[in-house]
Amino acid sequence: MKLTNFVNGQWQQTEQAEFRPVLNPANGEELAQVRMSTAQDVDLAVKAAVIAQKKWAKVPAPKRADYLYEIGRLMKERKEHLAQVLTKEMGKVIEEGRGEVQEGIDMAYYMAGEGRRMFGETTPSELGDKFAMSIRSPIGVVGLITPWNFPVAIATWKSFPAIVGGNTFIWKPATETPMMAYEMAKIFEEVGLPEGVANIVFGAGSEVGTALLEHKDVRVISFTGSTETGRKVAEAGGRNLKKVSLEMGGKNAVIVMEDADLDLAVEGILWSAFGTAGQRCTACSRVIVHKDVKEELQKRLLTKMDTLTIGDGADESIKIGPVINRKAIEKIHSYIEIGQQEGATLLVGGEILTGGIYDKGNYYAPTLFTDVKPDMRIAQEEIFGPVVSIIEVASLDEAIEVNNGVIYGLSSSIYTADVNRAFKAQRDLDTGIVYINAGTTGAEIHLPFGGTKGTGNGHRDSGVAALDVFTEWKSVYVDYSGKLQRAQIDNET
Ligand code: UN1
Repeated sequence: MKLTNFVNGQWQQTEQAEFRPVLNPANGEELAQVRMSTAQDVDLAVKAAVIAQKKWAKVPAPKRADYLYEIGRLMKERKEHLAQVLTKEMGKVIEEGRGEVQEGIDMAYYMAGEGRRMFGETTPSELGDKFAMSIRSPIGVVGLITPWNFPVAIATWKSFPAIVGGNTFIWKPATETPMMAYEMAKIFEEVGLPEGVANIVFGAGSEVGTALLEHKDVRVISFTGSTETGRKVAEAGGRNLKKVSLEMGGKNAVIVMEDADLDLAVEGILWSAFGTAGQRCTACSRVIVHKDVKEELQKRLLTKMDTLTIGDGADESIKIGPVINRKAIEKIHSYIEIGQQEGATLLVGGEILTGGIYDKGNYYAPTLFTDVKPDMRIAQEEIFGPVVSIIEVASLDEAIEVNNGVIYGLSSSIYTADVNRAFKAQRDLDTGIVYINAGTTGAEIHLPFGGTKGTGNGHRDSGVAALDVFTEWKSVYVDYSGKLQRAQIDNET
């Protein structure tokens, strides 16, 4: 199968174009070929999107939302198929694949509801016989750049508020996971979304992403990916005066206090550290544990880790799937030596799995380091794989300090039975998301998703907050006095 761009409601003809294979990370099988587009392809898509947006902005928001209800309905009908495709191209276990598709369905219905809300404000004017209000207006053409680890959910966090907000978009999915974008394009086509509203351009960030950033008619860039790339996106966006929304790395921690339910904490840690093979922005990669329970927690973690099954995520009995590609495996593996050289103790894992199916795919053993110091590189840098560092602390204050002592600020978690500690922690943990007695993953779509410091630049995906990215505030004054009334001057009497 050859995946070609979806632009202006058409599947582009592609004889001369360059293609790249899409591989199943579980077994190396070639699933499809994806188009590697050029800056000219982007320009074509933007031109179509500019024309379409003028009309789309005039469609009443509840009517725009009707398309989202239909998109949600089709996604629900095809949930199993979409999950299977997702697991094949991305590698996450099928149960998580279904969960991710559900996240997209939830987003469709939630954002469709916004079509009949999208609240602005009315407020009194300082002058008589004058009316004042602020409303959300469409922005124009927006560029969406999405990662391979959540190929459908993150795309829905961005494209659905863009749609309901009256914008048209160019979506550049990750080259590793174009098949979900292809599936979504088919859905956009089937629900009859007017041509040019949703455009998908496949290709590399260096070419397609750059072209979007440099294009004068693209007003917003919403990006999820690495902090390194995000910084470049922000720089180019700044130069071109675009609104840029960034969602980047994390170094998320679970704090376990001495009064915690340890079995619950173990379950939460395993789920948030090794789910999606640790390839979530929200993945737990540090465990900050009180010294009184460190040994016991470690023991219970090791016992449970022994039961984790690793293999092809399409098999229902598997708990941990492959990581995305060889490059990722090598990066993850390089941190084992780094950790050991820094003086951390490797308790389990630390190896690229081999033999049988492992030779065909990209499998990494769930890994646990202990005796990790907060400033070691393995406790500071995002590894994006199934590697966890245990750090010992002596108090809640120290735990919070360690949690906050990284450049990132996406998600954090604390296990404690003490309500006072829980509230203090949620106030002082410097992350965009905080969990009490749950791991660091599991964000729901009707809340803002994003982080502080090196994780973002103040914007949020999902929730109503997403509308702040995809709409412009317009303040409207209506003077019905029939005379000149000067603000700040004629209100003196
Ligand atoms: C991501 O890792 O980029 O909270 C998104 C979670 C998921 C979304 C993760 N609902 O882990």
